[in-house]
Amino acid sequence: MSKKNIAVLVSGGGTNLQSLIDSEKSGMFRDSKITLVISSKPGVYALERAKNNNIPALTLSRKDYGSIESYSKALAETLKQADIDLVVLAGFLTIIDSQVYEAFPNAIINIHPALIPSFCGKGYYGLHVHEAALKKGVKVSGATVHFVTPECDAGPIILQKAVEVKQDDTPETLQRRIMEQAEWKILPKAVQLFCRDQLSVKDNIVYIKEN
Ligand code: GRF
Repeated sequence: MSKKNIAVLVSGGGTNLQSLIDSEKSGMFRDSKITLVISSKPGVYALERAKNNNIPALTLSRKDYGSIESYSKALAETLKQADIDLVVLAGFLTIIDSQVYEAFPNAIINIHPALIPSFCGKGYYGLHVHEAALKKGVKVSGATVHFVTPECDAGPIILQKAVEVKQDDTPETLQRRIMEQAEWKILPKAVQLFCRDQLSVKDNIVYIKEN
């Protein structure tokens, strides 16, 4: 098992980043480390979290680049130069193209706040996901960690966890419960499995090896 360098890509508050930082501190990732945080927006609290934990962090702002292509090229180059093995999209809201996916095959993971294939794909981000779940009246929702492929939210599923939907939920209360009960648990677990070389992918299905 080789030590891995992890990059976490963020655009906001970074509670999922925090769950990864806490998990690393608790020894969950063995020798693997979060060595870089990249934000697509300046001034977000996720950058503070990186700073407070002495993790190198930088901002790559989409608006500083003329196109998705030039942004993706810069992002892929930055990740390669930093010798990154695993890229974690933790609330990263900027569109990237195949230059990044091809540079990191089966090595980019994303956390989505619903049980894929429900409430996912284009337009399903942030509170929109939970608004749609409440509108449909589902009784359980949850979170999914999956490998990232060019098709939005369609890559191989690594882990999922279901969470109860309550009758009086608002999008905000449901979002919070899904974060607390699912996202902050399964994202670190998926990173741990990756770092311990326990994940393999065949025909779009993820297999988890026991160790
Ligand atoms: C989370 O709900 C995550 O599932 C989604 O974006 C949100 C990010 O929250 N992809 P945070 O920045 O980690 O607090």
